[in-house]
Amino acid sequence: MSARFPVARPRRLRRSPALRRMVAGTRLHPADLVLPVFVKEGIAEPQPVVSMPGVVQHSRDSLRKAAHEAAEAGVGGLILFGIPAVKDARGSAADDPDGILQVALRDVNAEVGDAIVVMADTCLDEFTDNGHCGILTSSGDVDNDATLERYASIAVAQAEAGSQMVAPSGMMDGQVGAIRAALDGAGYGNIPILAYSAKYASAFFGPFRDAAECAPQFGDRSTHQQDPAGPLEEALREVRLDLAEGADAVMVKPALAYLDIIARFRAEVDVPVAAYQVSGEYAMIEAAAANGWVDRERMIMESLVGIKRAGADMILTYWATEVARRL
Ligand code: PBG
Repeated sequence: MSARFPVARPRRLRRSPALRRMVAGTRLHPADLVLPVFVKEGIAEPQPVVSMPGVVQHSRDSLRKAAHEAAEAGVGGLILFGIPAVKDARGSAADDPDGILQVALRDVNAEVGDAIVVMADTCLDEFTDNGHCGILTSSGDVDNDATLERYASIAVAQAEAGSQMVAPSGMMDGQVGAIRAALDGAGYGNIPILAYSAKYASAFFGPFRDAAECAPQFGDRSTHQQDPAGPLEEALREVRLDLAEGADAVMVKPALAYLDIIARFRAEVDVPVAAYQVSGEYAMIEAAAANGWVDRERMIMESLVGIKRAGADMILTYWATEVARRL
């Protein structure tokens, strides 16, 4: 090599697939992945979710099958969302021991609970007739403290049904502390809380509202979820409060537009950091791929590697089973 040319040659380590694989800095593992699943009461066959091609609302039977497939693929966890047949203002089905989410938790936990971590989303929006995440005041705002009482009761019902971890996603102030106290009081001191600590009022949740049938009937979630343009310190404040209240793991949601928040959480906290690759992140890659505009598999892997490289220890993704099989 002539002295006229550079001596440092980073390209040397990129010459072959084997070399690139050996020096890779980010490796995905099936156990990093958590599969979100929807189970709907009273259906005999799974129903496709139009805005999320490949995702379905499960029947109890099809959920069992999907849970087995995820476990066989080595996926780390399952997070269940329930869609009840009847909704009301207080989301009564959410803590009913015979409610769809509790029934499904029992089904799945009995069959695959030793092989995969079975958890539940702890919120009210799938269960309220108005689609909001809590109890409303007469003026239509979400009443923080009345909602905390509901979350506490829901978390206990979920633990009783076999949820091995609960994941409060409603962004009420004090939700982790209220749930911790209720779990401890009911003899579930060993059930960890995965706190959705930084959850943004995001347009990327759009398709989820079809999947979980929980679009707010009026208004939005911007009085409780964080503003996408809000200061970084606000996310840090939320995560510190959740840890002080007893969170065992923390989550950033969505993932792709908030990689900086994931990186910052990883640097700041000493518990596992999860990131949720949400419905809109799924839908935009599937839609572009269906049009033949992008390489679907490569884009899925690149997005997940990016989330992991940012610092996520766990990634919730609708592609969990497919990707786990490929790894
Ligand atoms: C609330 C909840 C939502 C999602 C997960 N938990 C919806 C919301 O906050 O509006 C969104 C997940 C996704 O978009 O994939 N129970």
